[in-house]
Amino acid sequence: MKILGIETSCDETAAAIVERKDNNLPLTILSSVLSTSLNLHAKTGGIIPEVAARQQLNYILPVLENVLQTAKIKPQELDAIAVTYGPGLIGSLLVGVETAKTLSYIWKKPLIPVNHLYGHIYANWISPTLTEQISFPAIALIISGGHTDLVYMESHGTLKWIGGTRDDAAGECFDKCARLLGYDYPGGPKISRLAIFGKPNAFLLPRPMIDKSDFDFSFSGLKTAFMRLVYDHFPVKNTSPHSDKYHWQHIILEKNMSESQKQTLYNICASLEQAIIDVLIKKTMTAAEKYNVKSILVGGGVASNKNLRTQLELNAKRLQLNAALFVPPPHLCTDNGAMIASAALFHYHPHDFENVTANPQLYFD
Ligand code: KG4
Ligand code: ZN
Repeated sequence: MKILGIETSCDETAAAIVERKDNNLPLTILSSVLSTSLNLHAKTGGIIPEVAARQQLNYILPVLENVLQTAKIKPQELDAIAVTYGPGLIGSLLVGVETAKTLSYIWKKPLIPVNHLYGHIYANWISPTLTEQISFPAIALIISGGHTDLVYMESHGTLKWIGGTRDDAAGECFDKCARLLGYDYPGGPKISRLAIFGKPNAFLLPRPMIDKSDFDFSFSGLKTAFMRLVYDHFPVKNTSPHSDKYHWQHIILEKNMSESQKQTLYNICASLEQAIIDVLIKKTMTAAEKYNVKSILVGGGVASNKNLRTQLELNAKRLQLNAALFVPPPHLCTDNGAMIASAALFHYHPHDFENVTANPQLYFD
C-alpha cells in the first residue's frame, strides 16, 4: 500500500509517499519533500500565521509534483491520501486539507484525516533504524513546539492521554529563551548548540513538577527563571524608572560578548537544556515503570535534541526497564509528510471529503 502524506500545520509545506509491503517493518519512504517559510519569519522572530499560509499556498503544488516525480509514481498508483487536519494554525491547515480534499475527489482516492500528534508518534514506525518490532503496551512522549504530552498506548487503536503541559511546551520554552538571546525560531537547535560548550550543572534552574506523581509538566516558571539568570549575568541599564528590571524585549547578542561572558552564556544554556531534559526523562521513565510498558516512543521536534537522546538511552538502561526505547532520526522528529502517511497506515479510516475539516484545536480523542 502506498500513501501520500501531506503536512502543513505550521510553517512547513511537506509531503511524502510511504509504502508498506506485506506488513514488513519499517515502512519505506519512497520520497519526501519539505519546504519551509522560516526565512520569511526571521525579521519578526516568530511565525506570522498569515505569512506562513500564503507561502504554503505557493509551495503546495510544486511540493506535491516534486514528491510524485522523485518517487516516480503516478497519482493512479497511490492507494490513499493522508493529511494533517489539526492541531495547528488554521490558515496553514486549510491549505493542506483543502488541497488533499480536491486531490481525493479528482484522483478518486480514499482520504484519511490525521491528527498531527499521532503523526509524531508514528514517525517511530518509519525509522530506518527500526530493527525490532515496537511492542505494546507503550508510552509515547510527544515534545514539539506547541505540545508536551505523555500518552499510554495499549494498542494502535487505544491511545490514552495521561498528562501534558499546563502552560508552555518544552519546545516553546527553548524557543522563547533563545529569542531572549537574539535567536530566531526555532530556538531549540540554537540553545543546544550553545549548550555544547557549557556546563549543565553550572546554574541550578528549577525542574518544575519533577517530583509530582502525576504526568503533567510546566515550563513557564523555568522560562522566567532563565530570564532572571540571563539578566543577573548580563544586566542592562534601565532607562525608565517605571519599567521592570526583567522583561522579554531585551535581547543580548552572543557576538558582542567577551570570552568570559560567552562562557557564562554557554553555561546558562547548558543548565536550561539540562533542566528540561531532567523533567522530560523523569516523567517518561516514571510512566514507563508505572504502566509496565514494553516500548517507550519519543517524537516531535525537541526529540531531535542530541543530549536528550543520549540521556534517554542511558536512563532506560540504568533503570533496567523491560522497555525498548525508540526515537526517530532527527529529520523524522521535526514535522514531515512521512509521519502523517505512517499514522494513516495504522489508523486507516477513510472519510468522505465533505466530512473532513481543519481543526486547529484538535487534541487526543
Ligand atoms: O515538531 P516540530 O517540528 O513542530 C511542531 O509541531 O511544533 O517541533 C518544533 C520544535 C521547536 O520548538 C524547536 O525549537 C524544537 O522543536 N527543536 C528542538 C531541537 N530541534 C527542534 N529543541 C531542542 N533541541 C533541538 N535540537
Ligand atoms: Zn509537529
